[in-house]
Amino acid sequence: MYVAGIDIGSTSGEALILEDERIVGWSIVDTGYSSRRAAEEALDLALSHSGIERTQLQRIVATGYGRVAVDFAHQQVTEITCYARGAYFLHPQVQTVIDIGGQDSKVVAVGAGGRPLDFAMNDKCAAGTGRFLEVIARALQLSLPEMGDWALRAKQAAEISSTCTVFAESEVVTLVAEGATREEIVAGICRSIARRVAAMAARVGVEPPVMFAGGVARNCGVVRALEEALGHPLIVPEEPQIVGALGAALVARDGATT
Ligand SMILES: Nc1ncnc2c1ncn2[C@@H]1O[C@H](COP(=O)(O)OP(=O)(O)OP(=O)(O)O)[C@@H](O)[C@H]1O
Ligand SMILES: [Mg+2]
Repeated sequence: MYVAGIDIGSTSGEALILEDERIVGWSIVDTGYSSRRAAEEALDLALSHSGIERTQLQRIVATGYGRVAVDFAHQQVTEITCYARGAYFLHPQVQTVIDIGGQDSKVVAVGAGGRPLDFAMNDKCAAGTGRFLEVIARALQLSLPEMGDWALRAKQAAEISSTCTVFAESEVVTLVAEGATREEIVAGICRSIARRVAAMAARVGVEPPVMFAGGVARNCGVVRALEEALGHPLIVPEEPQIVGALGAALVARDGATT
């Protein structure tokens, strides 16, 4: 039996195909301006990677900020449910999952069978999300994939006092003028995100093992800063962006008739 999960975020869209318990294909695309189009594109790509036809899918579940636009899905489910489910599938011991995406960050306490027990979320402010990193990367003329390595090379982290992305961007410009290195600034930015997310996580309570998912988990500078801020090592899946789509596919499997 084949089912699909689709996660349409503000920045990227993912689709993942399950054949029973096995992941047979997945994809990541840019969301762009149309969530519906991103969903179609991600699903087509995942199907072609899996070598199966759309008509073979028994059920499709959508999640993510753009899930309501995925009108061809049989069901729409919150990211909280999907992240808990996806994390549990990858590591059944996981007690807490942290997702930092392009425009929000969330912390979910994972219970038995991958059910969410509690959560906290920041979707009001870009600081503490991937958008913050994107703005600073642009200001420092760095690409996102290289940012983490710059942070890890820093001997010390610059102190970023602004709690707002717009002000932090001007603070970065000032720091550069004052002679701070890009390494120090990026390390400071990673630490600033990590502290914000750790403060939010404290509201839920962080029980180890902790999984870190979402696109920002691809930034090794944030991974290290978050480990320091939480005082726990983090499990980062090989493909941290597909955890939500995996959870959605697992929910689809539950709902499919066998
Ligand atoms: N190769 C990469 N290296 C480092 N960071 C990356 C990379 N690719 C993406 N990112 C980070 O991941 C962020 C996007 O994360 P993700 O794809 O999980 O967002 P999303 O699910 O679309 O957003 P949201 O869940 O907030 O709606 C970017 O803002 C960027 O900071
Ligand atoms: Mg997301």
